Formats: sequence, structure tokens, C-alpha cells
Amino acid sequence: MELAASLAVTGVLDILFGDAGYYLWGAQLVDLAPGQSHQWHVDAETARDGFVSLWIGIVGTNKETSLSVIDGSHRQSAPLQAFWPDGDPARANPAANEILLHPELAGVDAPTVAACVDGEGIFFDGRLWHGSFNRTSQPRRALILHYGKHGVPVRHTASDKSYPFAYHPSDNPITLPIKGEPDPVANKTVIRQPDGSIAYPVAKVAARPELVQNGRNPWTILPYFRIESPVMSGFSCHASVLATQFMPHLPHDHFDEEILVPLSGELTIFAGANDAGALRASRASPGDIFYYPSTISHTISNLSESGAPASYVMFKWRNRSGRSQKVNGARIPAHAHSGGRRLSIDLPSTGLDKLHIHSTTLEPRKGFNRHIDRYDTAILVLEGELSMMDRKLGPGGVFYSRAGEIHDTRNESAARCHYLVFEFHAMAD
Ligand SMILES: [Fe+2]
Ligand SMILES: [Fe+2]
Ligand SMILES: [Fe+2]
Repeated sequence: MELAASLAVTGVLDILFGDAGYYLWGAQLVDLAPGQSHQWHVDAETARDGFVSLWIGIVGTNKETSLSVIDGSHRQSAPLQAFWPDGDPARANPAANEILLHPELAGVDAPTVAACVDGEGIFFDGRLWHGSFNRTSQPRRALILHYGKHGVPVRHTASDKSYPFAYHPSDNPITLPIKGEPDPVANKTVIRQPDGSIAYPVAKVAARPELVQNGRNPWTILPYFRIESPVMSGFSCHASVLATQFMPHLPHDHFDEEILVPLSGELTIFAGANDAGALRASRASPGDIFYYPSTISHTISNLSESGAPASYVMFKWRNRSGRSQKVNGARIPAHAHSGGRRLSIDLPSTGLDKLHIHSTTLEPRKGFNRHIDRYDTAILVLEGELSMMDRKLGPGGVFYSRAGEIHDTRNESAARCHYLVFEFHAMAD
């Protein structure tokens, strides 16, 4: 780790990666016994823009054992594996005679072997055709460090033997930022602690409401939190209490998207416009979910005859990508009754590839183990008590875990817990 982030190494990486910042995603010792070879290849994981690898001789490094490369080969139209399949004897020949004679190749130089000694290294592009061949009677050991540019996703290959390369759909390498800010949407990221140990960033946003109506104000706003994330350039959450027969504002519209979930009482939601240009009114009860797309006209009122105040939670956000699409909104066709039919819906939103919502009921002492997701998640507790990373919230409480932050959800209480989960999936670039 110290070597991978040392000045001797980062001084060169800074030049190769420019201002982008970069991460370490792999470190590997490669031992070659006397006479053994690591056949000609390109690195399937990194045979594209945005990657740099560093080969360092550790033991037995000399002109007869160090990295062999074919200069300029990274500019060929396809990787070496496209011309020479795995197992072809041509790939084991250190002189690369057969490889260079392939009829589809033009202008490829003869291989060069780096004149390294132990402790010296070579920075190279994964697309470069390379191999190593131990032509001595001593063992040789090399260390390879793999770096990538922030924002460029790195993927394990399902098999590096066959071409075209197939990438593993979900088992992606964990990356360690070396310089600059990581992009947790592109990659799973860990962080380096001051003591040198490695840790995941931890979800820590948790807000509990104090839903007491201010006696003089017919409309009370209780701010929960306002944050940024890899998905959101801004995400805020608040709860409100609305007195009966009161409308807090005239219909308004804005670019930010919103979700409203009633917690108590009866509300009337006005949103969108019908053919006559009037806003559509919908009754809203606890457990309903309303989504306001960007620029839809909307307002809310407490028209209940009971005289009771109503309360609700609102999420408001603007995506980081700045892209938007046209979608339908307002009432989401689902209702999260306690203990009722399990809710699970996906819809595209104005600024998200996918807005996924589901409800979950957790029995006492049950939960989900620590993990990280590629999307942001908000959790609204409806009944009982839920814990996330040892912080506990009751009804009306909201947890938020940003993409790439480790989190769990547990019911540590003696009673059943019911909550809503909102996943915010970023649009692809
Ligand atoms: Fe390689
Ligand atoms: Fe609004
Ligand atoms: Fe999760």
C-alpha cells in the first residue's frame, strides 16, 4: 500500500492521468520459475482508456526475466488475443516471431525486454502486447499494480482466456482512491484511514422528526437534512405539519423532483392539470406515495372535516448529471398499508434512470447485513423502530445511504417494524 501511494509512483501517475485523480484496483505478485513464461497477452480488464499498470521487479529481475513488450502494439485495431487464441504456441515464444508475422498485422516492432533490475519498474498501458519469460536458472518475482482513472469503471473479466472479453456482471473490484475524489457510482470504493487501515465510507444520515405543531403556525416545517451524493447534486428532506383547512402555498412548480408521503391525518394533493387546465385533486392517507416530476404544478391542503392536523415527509432532489426526461407523475399507483400486500414498483423519474420503491416488514431481531449499493437509498420508517449502522429511528424517521456507503438495516426492537425504501438510480452517462 505504501509503495502503491508513494511519491516515486504517484509522481509518474500524476503525469499519466493528468488532473483526473486515480485509484488502485489491483495488486498481484507474479512468480516465474526458471524456464517458465507468462505468455504474450494484453490485460483484458484494462485494454481500454483510463488505466495504467506498473510492473516492478522484486527478485531475480534482469534482461533475461523482466517484462517484454512490443512497442506500439497498443495501437493495433484489436488486442493480441483477437489474433492469437489462448494456448497457441506462438504466444509462448519470447522472440514473438510468429506473432509478428500474422498477415493482419502491419508495422509491429520486434519485442524489447526492459533492462530492469530488482526494485525498478515499468509503467504500461493494458493494451500493450506484453509477456514475461524467465530464461534464467533462478526464480523471478514481480509485483504488478493496477490503477484506473476516477469515473472509469473497472470490471473483472469472467474469463480472460477467450476473446471477445466477457466482463463479470456484478463482481466488480473494490477500488482504493490514491489521488482525488472517487466516483462511487462508477466503482465500489474503500477509504484509507489515518492509521493506514482500510475502511468503507459509512452511511450516517439519520433524522428523527419532532412532529409537534407550533400552536400559532398553521404550517410547520421540520428540516431533516440536506446533502450531496454521487447521484444527487442536492437532496433534502423535511417533515411538515399542516393545520386543518389550510393550504400552505398556491400551486407552484420547480425543476427539483419531489416525493411526498403522508404520515398522519388526511391530505388533499393537487397536481398536474386536467383538460380544463385545473389541477387534479387526490385524497392522500398515511402510506400513500406521491411523486412530482420536474416542473409539474402542485400544492397540498388539509381539507379534513375532523379538524385534525396532518403530517407528511417530503424528499426533494436534483440529480447530479443534469439530464432530464419526460415522465408521468403524481400519485404512484400503490399503497403501503402496514402488513398488507408487499409494495414494489419501479418507475423512471425526470432525473433518474430508475426510482424504485418498496415496503418491507421486519420481524424483531431480523435484518439485512452490511453491504454497499450503486444507488442512493432513503428509508422512511412507518411503524416500529429500525436501526441502520447502530442508529435507531421510529415512525417518521428517515435514513439516507449514499451510493458506495456501507449500511445495514436491522430491527433490534421487540416489535415488528414497517418501512418504505426509496432507491435513486442515476442515469447512465
Ligand atoms: Fe499483463
Ligand atoms: Fe414543491
Ligand atoms: Fe442497501
